[in-house]
Amino acid sequence: MKNILNKDLDLKGKKVLLRVDLNVPMKNGAITEISRIEKIIPTIKFLSEKQAKIIILSHIGRPKGQIIEGMSLKPISEKLSYLLNKNISFNKQPIDKNTRLKINEASNGSITMLENIRFNKEEEANDMEFAKKISNLGDIYVNDAFSCSHRSHASIDGITSFIPSYFGLQITEEISALEKITNEIEKPVSLIIGGAKISTKIKIINNLIKKFDNVVIVGGMANTILKHTGKNVGKSICEHESENMVKQIFENSKKYNCKIVVPEDVIVSKKLDGIGKQKDVQAVEDDEMILDIGPKTISSIEKIINNSKTLLWNGPAGYFENPNFQDGTKKILEAISIKTTKDKIFSVAGGGETVAAINKFGKSNCFTFISTAGGAFLEYLEGKTLPGIRALNQNV
Ligand code: 3PG
Repeated sequence: MKNILNKDLDLKGKKVLLRVDLNVPMKNGAITEISRIEKIIPTIKFLSEKQAKIIILSHIGRPKGQIIEGMSLKPISEKLSYLLNKNISFNKQPIDKNTRLKINEASNGSITMLENIRFNKEEEANDMEFAKKISNLGDIYVNDAFSCSHRSHASIDGITSFIPSYFGLQITEEISALEKITNEIEKPVSLIIGGAKISTKIKIINNLIKKFDNVVIVGGMANTILKHTGKNVGKSICEHESENMVKQIFENSKKYNCKIVVPEDVIVSKKLDGIGKQKDVQAVEDDEMILDIGPKTISSIEKIINNSKTLLWNGPAGYFENPNFQDGTKKILEAISIKTTKDKIFSVAGGGETVAAINKFGKSNCFTFISTAGGAFLEYLEGKTLPGIRALNQNV
């Protein structure tokens, strides 16, 4: 793995094209969550201390090759500049020979940020001419955007064909954490997986079932299993045509000797904003919705957590936005955080809703690693080789 920590890499005075993921949530022009900005700070500080000239490349949103004022990276460059307490020269102009001249004149240790790379339609098309054009701005390329590495785009993939390319600090940490839960696993290992639809997670389940000791299925996706194993799920979220998927999970669980755990009791209500009632899974009525797991299920999951040495959690256990249905998610989080702190087990969480739940319950320091990646995290767990990572490994 070619990493920027490589001792032979002399960064002094080098123009470093640094691809990061500054795709942060925004509302009315204001940034609402900054963890992706904070995560790139160590790499920027490292490069800056090594006297490199840093040129930041990123996207925000999906402007589809159009210049959209509300999707400018300008406010993000200001936030980053504030957090670093350092000036960032923001380049709003299209990339041309003037951009190159300006970068050439930048001083060692300085930071330049280019405007949203997706304002160029060639970016998402992985256009090789465009990739070459960006590569000409720098001496070396660094990908520190794990969360974008599932995209075969010019600033992620194509660019590595033209310039020496390296892994950044954050992407290295992310890959190493994900390797520890997919390949270099310390057993027993358990997956707790939730969220609305089983169809979006089936590839992850079928990939990990081969190596995991337990797969605990909660949230809306558990309803699909309950339904296809003969239970009434009333008005709950459920994928009604997923019989084969469910069959496949149980076949694989036998084949690979992995225990599948689904709810034995649940919390139901007739309304999303209603109050909850605990029920056995056999007793759900036609006009009820399953909105959380029940106490018996929570206690079984706590036992699994306490018997694991490696844990992966993705997807909430219920509709935690309503405090009446937050117990499952909250208790899982508490059990993982106690176990991680007490026994120093390896725990990883990731995915948009999962991170939202972790933040809501103030547990962001309780996992060994929390991934801020969405699609890339899920595709990695499916066992796919991400184009951005493949490209870095092929670069010689
Ligand atoms: C993300 O938010 O997952 C990344 O920034 C990738 O964004 P995309 O899904 O628009 O490619």
